[in-house]
Amino acid sequence: MSNAEQIEYWNSKVGEIWVQMQERMDAALTPVTAALLAAADPQAGETVLDIGCGAGETTLAVDAVVGEGGHAIGLDISEPLLARARERAEALQSEAEFLAADASQWADERGFDLILSRFGVMFFADPQAAFTHIHSLAAPGGRLVFACWQPATRNQWATLPLTALAHLLPPLPPSDPLAPGPFAFADAARVATVLENAGWHDVTCHSLPFAMLVGSGADPIADAVSFNLKIGPAARIVRDAGIGDAARPVLAEALRPYLKGDRVELPGAVWLVTARA
Ligand SMILES: C[S@@+](CC[C@H](N)C(=O)[O-])C[C@H]1O[C@@H](n2cnc3c(N)ncnc32)[C@H](O)[C@@H]1O
Repeated sequence: MSNAEQIEYWNSKVGEIWVQMQERMDAALTPVTAALLAAADPQAGETVLDIGCGAGETTLAVDAVVGEGGHAIGLDISEPLLARARERAEALQSEAEFLAADASQWADERGFDLILSRFGVMFFADPQAAFTHIHSLAAPGGRLVFACWQPATRNQWATLPLTALAHLLPPLPPSDPLAPGPFAFADAARVATVLENAGWHDVTCHSLPFAMLVGSGADPIADAVSFNLKIGPAARIVRDAGIGDAARPVLAEALRPYLKGDRVELPGAVWLVTARA
């Protein structure tokens, strides 16, 4: 099965929006990044592969730890995001390498000590085949550590905008919960089965609830509204329906209860998945 649809998607305007939103996404996901890196526990001298590395936040963090004796590679299918990652590497004088490739097909012989991903592994057309291939990239005993979203019902950053705007939108068509997309790995039992059938051992799925920062600065509510209209499940639907102006005040009201001090935070929940080759 081909990932062509996802390759087109992440190279469309969406890739450029993610580039614009890079700093804000990295801020929003800080608790996930910290937990992911703690679970991954990279060591000096290790070879590390970051799958669906996007703008490179986790690849760059790992590269700083593995040092000159090690090597970190970020793989992604999105040219705009890879360009941003390379820019950041240059600015940091990082040796991290960023390659354009579909992780379900990219071949390499070196045997990675650690394969990690922050939300980059839920987009494969055939997850079983993809994780079987990714297993072939790991060194014997190599670690796999990734973060993926729990069900949307536990991720209010995704559901709140759609619920608040429902009366302004046409009825949403039913969607396939297993189709490639942010919530494709929401079912931890399915993730474990996919990984075990792909040859991975010692699979664990650890639940990580966290508060996702969606608004801050001088006007945190306006900031949160603009965040929700740029990224996440509501953004594309609102764009396609052409209701951006009507959506703003409605979203502002829905987000107000989540303002604490100068931050708007919405509940999120992630699976931190670990396994061994
Ligand atoms: C939700 S974004 C996460 C990006 C980054 N890891 C982060 O946390 O900011 C998902 C990323 O996975 C990438 N991706 C999707 N399918 C892929 C595939 N088959 N091979 C490599 N990367 C893929 C996308 O291009 C996108 O950059």
